Amino acid sequence: MDRTLEDLAERFSKIAHRYDDKHDSEEKPVYNACASLVIDHADPRPDDVVLDLGTGTGLIALALAGNAEHVAGRDISEGMLEQAQVKAADSGIDNIEFGYGEFRDPQYSGEVDIVVSNFSLHHLPDEEKREAIEAIVDLSPRRFVLGDAMFFSSPDPEEPLFGHGVDAATVGMLVDVLTDVGFVVTAVERVHDQVGVLVADRFDDDT
Ligand SMILES: C[S@@+](CC[C@H](N)C(=O)[O-])C[C@H]1O[C@@H](n2cnc3c(N)ncnc32)[C@H](O)[C@@H]1O
Repeated sequence: MDRTLEDLAERFSKIAHRYDDKHDSEEKPVYNACASLVIDHADPRPDDVVLDLGTGTGLIALALAGNAEHVAGRDISEGMLEQAQVKAADSGIDNIEFGYGEFRDPQYSGEVDIVVSNFSLHHLPDEEKREAIEAIVDLSPRRFVLGDAMFFSSPDPEEPLFGHGVDAATVGMLVDVLTDVGFVVTAVERVHDQVGVLVADRFDDDT
């Protein structure tokens, strides 16, 4: 892991034990709305394998496990992954596994039907977001659902929604990259002027 990723992973590991308190609260309506849309749009079938990238404490992965055959969560932060593992064990969910994986090297070798990611891709600069999306398409999922900080218009500098550590892309840039790699963007959900959910599908040539 390079130094910057290591620093970021350590930062998340330090707050992992209280991450859910912050994000479960009503103070985070934008985050909660975004997460709900990601879960709704993922919409796995009972025989689907789902991969959650930047899974954190497993909010999205755990929510989808009841409707999928198998869910894998990948993250760079050991502390966040430990929280996710404890939550899975406490809730008796056994069709889920969490482990180390980076967006551009998710370290998942099986077949994947749906890739999801919530509030994580913004940690990468735009060029690395492109590489991450290329790595996702290499896994051949039929759907990728991305919830994240993204700009629908120029952000108002007087009213920043996010502070340090958020490198949001424009919606246009993300749609361009998704389209370039062969996805069809089938839904764009605007949660806030700086937060949205993109649904990207891949269709077989004979579909
Ligand atoms: C704000 S949290 C979101 C966690 C979870 N998806 C959620 O919705 O609660 C961002 C997560 O992305 C992870 N992350 C940051 N950069 C990453 C990368 N390059 N590859 C994989 N995970 C990464 C962090 O460790 C952290 O757990």
